[in-house]
Amino acid sequence: MNASADPNLIVYFNGRYMPLRDAQVNILTHSLHYGTGVFEGIRAHWVPVENELFVLRAPEHYERWKKNCGILRIQVPATVPELCAITVELMRRNAFHTNVYVRPLAYKSAERIGVSTDDQNSFAIVALPFGEYLHSDKGLHAGVSSWRRIEDNAIPARAKICGAYVNSALASDDARQAGFDEAIFLNENGHVAEGATCNIFMVRDGKLITPSVTENALEGITRSSIMELASRELRLPVIERPIDRSELYICDELFFTGTAVGVAPIVRVDHRPVHDGAIGAVTQKIHQLYFDATRGHLKAYEHWLTPVYQSRMKYEQDLVSTVESM
Ligand SMILES: Cc1ncc(COP(=O)(O)O)c(C=O)c1O
Repeated sequence: MNASADPNLIVYFNGRYMPLRDAQVNILTHSLHYGTGVFEGIRAHWVPVENELFVLRAPEHYERWKKNCGILRIQVPATVPELCAITVELMRRNAFHTNVYVRPLAYKSAERIGVSTDDQNSFAIVALPFGEYLHSDKGLHAGVSSWRRIEDNAIPARAKICGAYVNSALASDDARQAGFDEAIFLNENGHVAEGATCNIFMVRDGKLITPSVTENALEGITRSSIMELASRELRLPVIERPIDRSELYICDELFFTGTAVGVAPIVRVDHRPVHDGAIGAVTQKIHQLYFDATRGHLKAYEHWLTPVYQSRMKYEQDLVSTVESM
């Protein structure tokens, strides 16, 4: 995961497809100094039996991205279908036959000194082969961070704003230095907010509980997928409410969710076992349901997926108009 990306990778940058090695920015770029960008993270899963690559919830990711760009007054000059079409085209041009992570990035691109912003924006989309982000097969050991989650009226955590990830980087670095796999953030009210790069769920007394989106957490797309799967398929009551730190120590099950981490069980928190220290039954069921839904095994959730190699008809028209306008 830490290996540098192949410089020959085809990326979409400044309205053109080009090799990664040519997609360069100036050292004075505004967002490089001030963190004034908004990014996304999208996964595509390779399913060998179908010889197909399925992009997961691409329209939802691009809708969130465009909305959140508005927080920084960045306009992305492409529609959601056009962005989906570029994404599919990137996978085809790179001939990916493996799991892939897609990183759209829109940013303030003026090349000058000065924090005030203007209307000069750029965007790029990079897709690259990507395996597991956290090795969570045996369950993770999470630690509550001494870094607090950023407040909405400082830097909104609900959006993937580049500068906000200093908060996540500090917490996750500390967690790793202390021997944990991942950090859990509390917000300024002392309630559980989320992980450094993922949302969090707790099972207590047969209910699935997660902090509400006003607790300074990212409005995760995996989070909403899990809430839907748990209530529709497992008939579990799903509750959004504040979670106290000490509830982490007495709950029945805990897990993280996110595009990068998927469904990642937590078996220890702050050196205490979660329940009996084994991956819980609800977590296992949700993990399996999410796996099946994201690999096209569940008909009811096929609308979450964009097949890359069979979708030529569906996206041909969008693609032609996108490519023509470049
Ligand atoms: C801070 C944070 N929380 C939660 C998530 C999970 O969000 P999603 O499920 O949309 O990937 C992410 C994903 O990158 C994140 O960075």
